[in-house]
Amino acid sequence: MKIILEIEGLKKYYGRPGNQTKALDGISFQAAEGEFLGIMGSSGSGKSTLLNCIATVIQPTGGKIRMQGADILALKGEKLAEYRGKKIGYLFQNFELLDHMTGRENILLPLSLHSVSGKESQSRLTRLAEYLEITDVLEKFPAQMSGGQKQRVAAARALIMNPGMILADEPTGALDSKNAKTLMEKLAGLNREENATILMVTHDSNAASYCKRILFIQDGVIFHELRRNLPDESQRDFYGRILNVMAQLGGGSANVL
Ligand SMILES: Nc1ncnc2c1ncn2[C@@H]1O[C@H](COP(=O)(O)OP(=O)(O)OP(=O)(O)O)[C@@H](O)[C@H]1O
Ligand SMILES: [Mg+2]
Repeated sequence: MKIILEIEGLKKYYGRPGNQTKALDGISFQAAEGEFLGIMGSSGSGKSTLLNCIATVIQPTGGKIRMQGADILALKGEKLAEYRGKKIGYLFQNFELLDHMTGRENILLPLSLHSVSGKESQSRLTRLAEYLEITDVLEKFPAQMSGGQKQRVAAARALIMNPGMILADEPTGALDSKNAKTLMEKLAGLNREENATILMVTHDSNAASYCKRILFIQDGVIFHELRRNLPDESQRDFYGRILNVMAQLGGGSANVL
């Protein structure tokens, strides 16, 4: 098992001493290549903050983040751009597609930004589009796509560079249950068949049941971890265990487990 992501004592405090929000207050965990790791926790527990620290969108107050052995908090200039553009792929709740570009142009945008050339990417695009069932919307603009199609186009954009890790923040948050199920089946399939490493934040116990392991965070710390017992445990049974933890979370008690 090859460790791809190492987080050690990660802290993010917002505001000034005296009026501080400790969004992350000492988070440590590791993710291996090929993991499908979920992050769950109630609203305001620090999930997006965690993902945004890994994506280098925000600077943590303290702690370490290593991706494929590199200290990402020390990256600058070209190396930082390479990390953001090639090593990670980001999937947002609200798709974040560019309205004036077609599906195809949106998906290929990372390539032009990082001057990666053509042929291989074109065939990757064709395969991804087929797999994600978006071949027939590639020439459409986002306004002409359904929510589910938009999110699958966004998934293709996140995957086109073949990043080491996909970071997804509530990817099913804006989807109805049918489209959410389709997206989760596609992500799980990529994880299973292409060994894609995925770190996904979600509120949704259903979406989380596709993960192999889930970290529950509350008040900026990890307070519980669930691992699906593969290959024996059914997704349904895992879902049941997730609901149990979430029920206790809802009660606001972090020390009952
Ligand atoms: N830019 C900011 N300035 C000040 N406080 C912030 C900022 N961003 C987040 N916070 C606070 O940090 C805490 C964690 O926020 P975060 O967005 O990480 O939560 P979350 O778990 O993603 O919540 P949700 O499930 O609602 O998306 C919250 O208390 C939030 O109010
Ligand atoms: Mg959030």
